[in-house]
Parts: sequence; structure tokens; C-alpha cells
Amino acid sequence: MSFTCWAFIDFIWLFLALAFAFSLCILKLSRANVNYSNSKILCIFEDLIRYGKTKNDLRRGAFLRLFDVPKRWFFHFYIVSVIWNSFLIRHHINAVFFGVPYPIWLSDLSNALTNFCVQHENGKYNNNIRCCDQLSVLLIHLLLWVHSIRRLYECLFISVFSDGVIHIVQYCFGLAYYILLGLTVISTSSISQAGGSTENRYAQIHFSHFLGITMFIWASVHQNRCLTILANLRKENNGKVINMHHSIPVGDWFSLISSPHYFAELLIYISLSLTLGGWNLTWWLVVLYVLFNQALAAALCQEFYHKKFDSYPKCRCAFIPYLL
Ligand SMILES: NC(=O)c1ccc[n+]([C@@H]2O[C@H](COP(=O)([O-])OP(=O)(O)OC[C@H]3O[C@@H](n4cnc5c(N)ncnc54)[C@H](OP(=O)(O)O)[C@@H]3O)[C@@H](O)[C@H]2O)c1
Repeated sequence: MSFTCWAFIDFIWLFLALAFAFSLCILKLSRANVNYSNSKILCIFEDLIRYGKTKNDLRRGAFLRLFDVPKRWFFHFYIVSVIWNSFLIRHHINAVFFGVPYPIWLSDLSNALTNFCVQHENGKYNNNIRCCDQLSVLLIHLLLWVHSIRRLYECLFISVFSDGVIHIVQYCFGLAYYILLGLTVISTSSISQAGGSTENRYAQIHFSHFLGITMFIWASVHQNRCLTILANLRKENNGKVINMHHSIPVGDWFSLISSPHYFAELLIYISLSLTLGGWNLTWWLVVLYVLFNQALAAALCQEFYHKKFDSYPKCRCAFIPYLL
């Protein structure tokens, strides 16, 4: 008999997931209890969780506005992600196909994050039971990289950003998020094995890879369509930007939910977990984090639409079709 302890990286993702789940609960509770509506602490809390259009109507003092940075800086996240993950993928490919070990500092960092134990009857610890095969890990790393490149392209060439803002804490968190995500992928593989394995990579091809990649493409196409619909609300047919208003989006998954691009984000992370085979605890914790993070953003977005538009379609759920 053996049992698995959690890795340090698992606790990080669980903590982040719970932080956003807790924020969502606080938000719902504050809406149910009007006594809190003028509280200063609630104002600071909302300043930290809102961004973009959902922050426009938040009444806050000049001091809190000092921490605003432009929301159009979103593309910085994807630049960091593309550069960082290109660097990691290069080392990953070298390790998987050419047996070149990772740099010591990267191995040490990964080992620190995966510091966990699987205790066997004889009392020894073994890390390998938690590791996915190298091909699956390389695949999700490439998918994550493709996702970042697409999002970078959308931020730079499709989306039309107004003068919306995000909090400097959210901005720093966004930068750190993509660094951590890359490290999480690296940590999912067995770095100690990466240098020496001679196993046939083709033998590692699995049905879950096809399932995950198909779902990834499907969700990415819909996310791109929905972000294009949002951008087109501010453009003429010839592509010229004509306003910076927020209007009611229609088409594609917008007929079912108010924030289909957030739902698609969740599906993209689920698809990565499926590509890994569907059994990796760390990646399901990443999915849990994305679920609560995007659910919070979607709840605020739904509130924004209901407040702003009397004619907003009542049948549209906020985040998950027919459910939430
Ligand atoms: N994985 C993560 O942790 C994470 C976290 C956050 C976001 N994301 C992803 O990043 C993507 C963008 O997220 P976001 O929160 O920036 O989305 P968003 O607030 O909906 O904004 C997307 C773009 O659409 C514009 N827009 C939004 N609603 C509009 C409306 N009603 N009318 C006209 N234009 C509108 C925004 O302009 P404004 O400049 O006016 O806002 C912005 O240019 C999403 O796909 C999301 O899933 C991922």
C-alpha cells in the first residue's frame, strides 16, 4: 500500500483556487447584505478583484486610483509567457529528444516545487509515481505556448481596448502567473529522468492526446470568435474603430452565456489536463484555479450587464451554459 502526499506546487494552486473561491463568496455575500455596501474594506476588496469595464462604476478615492495601470497592458502577460515558455520548451525538447539535462538552477527550482512524498510500505519516498510521460508534458507545453501566441496576437491586433484599468497587484499577479504555469509544466515531468531516458517516444502516443488536442482547438476557436465579436462591437465593417462603448454582444456562445471567452478559457485548461491523461492532480488544481478565477470575473461581468442594460437577455447564464 502507498499513499501520496501533496507537492508544494499543489498547495500553491490550491491556495490560489481557494482565494478566488473565497472572493466569489464574499462578493455574493456582500450583494446579499446591503449594510456592507459602504464599507471601506469592501471597496479595497472590490478594487482588487475588479478590472476593465466592471471597475468603471466603482466609487473609490484618489488614493486607490494611484494603483491603476492600463488594462491594454494585458499583452505584457503573453509576451512574458511566450518568451519564458519558449526558453523552457527548448530545454524540454533537448532533454526529451537529446538527453541534455536541464540547467541545474531549473532542476533545483522544479525539485523544490515538486517536493512531495509517496510513502511505500518500506518507508521510502518515491517521486516518480506523480510524473507524466515526457511526450504528454511536452505536448501541453507546446499547447500552452500556442495559446499564449494566439492571445498575444488577439491583444495586439484584434481586441479594442478602452481606457479601462487593472490594479497593479493584478498586473504583477498576471506576470507571475505565466512564469508559475511554465514551471508547473516542467515540474509535471520527471526532471531527474529527463536526461537519460531512451524510451521510444512513439510508444507514448495515447488516445487522450487526440481528445485533449481536439478539445483545445475547439475551445480556442470559440474563444477567438467571441473575442472578435467583442472587438467588432467597436469597429465598422472595414475594421475602423468607431467607439469605445460597451454594448450587448450577440452570436456564437454569447447566445447562451455572457462571458463565453471565460468559459472557453476553462475548457482550454481542461483540455490540457486531458492531454496529460486526465490523472494529474496538479493540473486539476490548475483547472480549479481557472474555474474560480474566471467564475469571479464572469459574475462581475454579469452584474455589469444587468446594471447597464435593462433589455439584457434574461436567459443568458453568466459563465457555464444552463448552469451558472
Ligand atoms: N487564465 C487566467 O487566469 C485569465 C485571467 C484573466 C483573463 N484571461 C483570459 O483573457 C481573455 C481576456 O479577458 P478579459 O477579462 O480582458 O476580457 P474582457 O474584459 O471581456 O475584455 C476583452 C476585450 O473585449 C472588450 N469588451 C469587453 N466587453 C465588451 C463589451 N460589452 N462591448 C465592447 N467591448 C467589450 C474589452 O475592452 P475594455 O478595454 O473596455 O475592457 C477588451 O478589449 C479571456 O479570454 C480570458 O479568459 C485568463
